[in-house]
Parts: sequence; structure tokens; C-alpha cells
Amino acid sequence: MDAFKTRVGKIVTTIVLVLVLLVAYIGWIVLREETPYYESPADHFKYGSISTEQKEGVPLLIWEVLPRLFPEYLPRPGGYTALGMTWEEGKETPVGISRRKVLGMERQGITCAICHTATYRKQPQDKPVIVPTGPSSKFDSLGYLRFLEACAKDARFTAGYILPEIEYNHPLSLIDKVIYRFAIPITQKLILQQSQEFEWTKSRPNWGPGRIDPFNPVKFRMLDQPIDDTIGNSDMMPLWNQKLRSGFALHWDGLETSLTETVNTGALGDGATLQTIPIEDLQRVEKYITGAEPPAYPFAIDGTLATQGQTIFEHNCASCHAFGGERTGTVIPQPEVGTDRHRLEMWTAEAAEAYNDFAKGYPFKFNNLRKTNGYLSVALDGLWLRAPYLHNGSVPTLQDLLNPPDQRTPVFYRGYDVFDPDRVGFVSQGEEAEYWGFKLDTTETGNSNQGHLYGTDLASQEKIALIEYLKTL
Ligand code: HEC
Ligand code: HEC
Repeated sequence: MDAFKTRVGKIVTTIVLVLVLLVAYIGWIVLREETPYYESPADHFKYGSISTEQKEGVPLLIWEVLPRLFPEYLPRPGGYTALGMTWEEGKETPVGISRRKVLGMERQGITCAICHTATYRKQPQDKPVIVPTGPSSKFDSLGYLRFLEACAKDARFTAGYILPEIEYNHPLSLIDKVIYRFAIPITQKLILQQSQEFEWTKSRPNWGPGRIDPFNPVKFRMLDQPIDDTIGNSDMMPLWNQKLRSGFALHWDGLETSLTETVNTGALGDGATLQTIPIEDLQRVEKYITGAEPPAYPFAIDGTLATQGQTIFEHNCASCHAFGGERTGTVIPQPEVGTDRHRLEMWTAEAAEAYNDFAKGYPFKFNNLRKTNGYLSVALDGLWLRAPYLHNGSVPTLQDLLNPPDQRTPVFYRGYDVFDPDRVGFVSQGEEAEYWGFKLDTTETGNSNQGHLYGTDLASQEKIALIEYLKTL
């Protein structure tokens, strides 16, 4: 009898064990995390996850169908390209969109490249040339948030409406269907919650393409700072040649002095968390931007004229802008440079202190955030591809920048990436620029094009020569 009991006991234990293993195995299959690895550093920069998917991302299959289901909430036809994203041929997501399987579901997120990849075209009919580490002049970050919000607010944001569109391209298993039935309303709730956290943007001037308010979201959402009325709209910066920038302050107002910290704060600002931030993946990004170089000017350059321009540059600009210049990479007090004050005032000493405390107890602490009193005298490498100019992107071309402020173009369109080699900047007037662009009015708060008077009193021949030289940087 006892022997029988023992045998039954053994069988039961084995069955229980097998069941437990089976459940664990299925759980592991469903819940394991899968992050695609990109061998090439450039692909890693463009598509590699920086762990923004879990907190701010959307399940990939839902994300893919939103432009088809709700095209009326996009500014123009073209899916996500209407918001300034760029697709490389043969890729499943646009540049700057990562994918990663978290909690059993593939989600999308953003990477550094969505803001830090430039494009340009020599002619309207050309395909855009994609330049990773250049500043995007067309990604409309706020437009993207508003698009997701409008979709989530639509009464049709239901499994009944969204699932058939997903299944049109991706046959779903029964389990997947059940998962998505839950995921769709949860996604809706999370998008609405996120847009609530960005409610303050609605009472301030629009960022438009190629600009964001970089630190107000961080202040209000991460650092628990009170919602104030500051406006931080600022132009994307290039990330190339960080090796040559070693020792420079970082960000338009120089609020950081450590590149590693800047990279890590970049990821946290985009949706990584203290728990998920992938330090090793970010080290690869840092290595890549340290060595990346800007592309050469793609049109002809008059060498003789450029040589004349170089002398003018050395007399008027090099002390603040040449690598090795006495003040290059340092903060120039705002009253001295005279450009718009708003971006500077957005960042506060309290926020800097809160950020320096933010990662206490983690191995990647922050120590170097600070409050400054001016703007960075940036190195000018790859300058031709960095239009519109100044920290708030208020000056469309180099020709405009060398004009006194009252002769700079007061209203223009940002976001169209066809290049204008005559004025050196992107085409920012005319039908095409208006169709693709965002109207930037320099009389709006935070958009002022005043200040930076350097070179504005040069003779017109000298300006032409200087611009020719600036094309070579
Ligand atoms: C949503 C857009 C956006 C994303 C995504 C983004 N950045 Fe930025 N980044 C900016 C803007 C805008 C600035 C300039 C902000 C300012 O100081 O006003 C900037 C500034 C920087 C700078 C300072 C450059 C200099 O020379 O001073 C570095 C470095 C940087 N970002 C790295 C990164 C990295 C690395 C990532 C990804 C982990 C990232 N950024 C993600 C928009 C973005
Ligand atoms: C005293 C230092 C100083 C001198 C001299 C100076 N600049 Fe600047 N420059 C700055 C500062 C500071 C900024 C950033 C200001 C801002 O964006 O608000 C800047 C920004 C720029 C930008 C915008 C860069 C971008 O990515 O948008 C260009 C272009 C530029 N300067 C060109 C010149 C030229 C050309 C000269 C010489 C005729 C010159 N600067 C002389 C300090 C200087």
C-alpha cells in the first residue's frame, strides 16, 4: 500500500513539475524581451533601441496602422513622412524608430536618430540624402504627439476598428488577437495620459519641425518641477565630431559639460527610465558620434573666393567658432550675443540641482548639470546642413544671418529639405516650402531673430567671400 502511495506521489509530483515547466516555458516565450542587435554602428544609431519603447512607445502593429486609419489627423498625405520621418528603402521602420519586444509584445520607440539625422535634396525630385548625426530640420515632434493624441481621442480607437486593419497585413494567431483586444484600450489610455502631461504645450508657441522644447518636458514630468510659463523652443543640434568637441560645454546654453551624461540624459528625456536605461547601448552611440564626420558641401565651391573668406573668418569669427578658438565651446553671456532669451530662461538652477540628484544610488550618476547665463559659441563644422540657424532656428540662411536683424527674413517656412545654394540654407519660401513647411513667425515669443551682429557690417563682397568659406566647414 505504501509502495502504491509513493508511486502515485511520484507521478503527481512529476505531472506538477512538467506543468510548472510548461507554464514557465510558455511564459518565457510570451514575455521574454527581444531587442534586435545592429552590427553596424550607423544602424545601431538609427534603429537600435535606447529603451524608450516600454514607457513612451506604442505596440508596433497598432502604430503601423494609425496613419492609414486616421489620415485626417496628419498635416498632409504620406503617413509618418508627413510628420518629417524618413524611410530608408527596405527598412521596416523610419529612421529613428526602434522596435523591441517587451512583455510579449513588439513595441516601437524613438531613438536619438529621429532628431539627430539630417536629410537634404539638391532638387525637389531627388530622394533625400540621409545624414545620421546631422540635425533633423523636418521631424515634427509635437505634431507627432498631437497626431497620437487625436487618434486616441477618436471614438473609433477600438479593437473593432483597429484589429481588422492589422490583420490585413499580419495574420494574427488566436492568442495574439486576445492580447491585442486588451492592448488597444490600454494603448489608448496611455497615449491620453501622455498627452495630458504635455497639455502645457498648447498654451505656448508651436515647436514646428526640427525644433523641440528639450527640457521643459523633463522638468515637469521627470524632475517634479512646478509647471512654469517658460518657452524653451530650440533647434536640433548636430552630434558629429564629438571628439573635436572634447572639453566643450554641451547644449545650446551649455547646461552640461560631460558628453556621457548628455547621452544618458538624452535617453531619459526620450522615455528610458532609471531602471531600463541601456548604458552599454548608449556607450556605442557615444562612440559613434565621437568619430562621425559631417558631409562635404554637395555643390561647387569657388576656391579663390573661399580663401579670401577664410581671412575674414579668422578676423571676425574664429575666436568663438574655430576648433582651437579662445572662446569656442564656451558660454557667451546672453547680453553679449544678444539672441532670444527664452531658451536660456527655460532652464533653472533648481532643475539642474534636481537632475544632479536624480540618479543618486545608480552607477551612472549625474554631476555636471548646471545653470548658465548665455549661449554656446558652437563649432561650425557641417554648417551648411544646420539651417535654419541660431539656437531657436529663427534665421533661415547664412545670407540672412549676416544681415542686420531688421533685414533678416521675418516669416519663413521650416521643414522642407530642398537646399538653396544661393542663400545657403533650405528653401524656405514659395509654394513647395509652404506645403511641406511650418510657418515660423519671428515676432512670436521665443522666435526672435535678433542679436548675433557679428559680420553684419562687412561689405557685401566680404560677406559673399565669408559665406563661400563657411560652405567648406
Ligand atoms: C526629440 C528630439 C531629440 C532626441 C530624440 C534626442 N535629442 Fe539630443 N538634442 C535635441 C535638441 C533639440 C538638442 C539641443 C537642445 C538644447 O540645448 O536646446 C539636443 C542636444 C544634444 C546634444 C548636445 C550637442 C552639443 O554639441 O552641444 C547631444 C550630445 C545630444 N543631444 C545627444 C543625444 C543622444 C545621444 C540622444 C539619444 C540617446 C539624443 N540626443 C536624443 C533633440 C533630441
Ligand atoms: C563673441 C563670440 C562670437 C563671435 C565673434 C561670432 N559668433 Fe557666431 N555664435 C556665437 C554664439 C554664442 C552663438 C549661439 C547663439 C544662439 O544661437 O543664440 C553663435 C551662433 C552662430 C551660428 C549659428 C550656428 C547654428 O548651428 O545654428 C552661426 C552660423 C554663426 N554663429 C556664425 C558666425 C560668423 C560667420 C561669425 C563671424 C562673422 C560669428 N559667428 C562670430 C558667438 C559668436
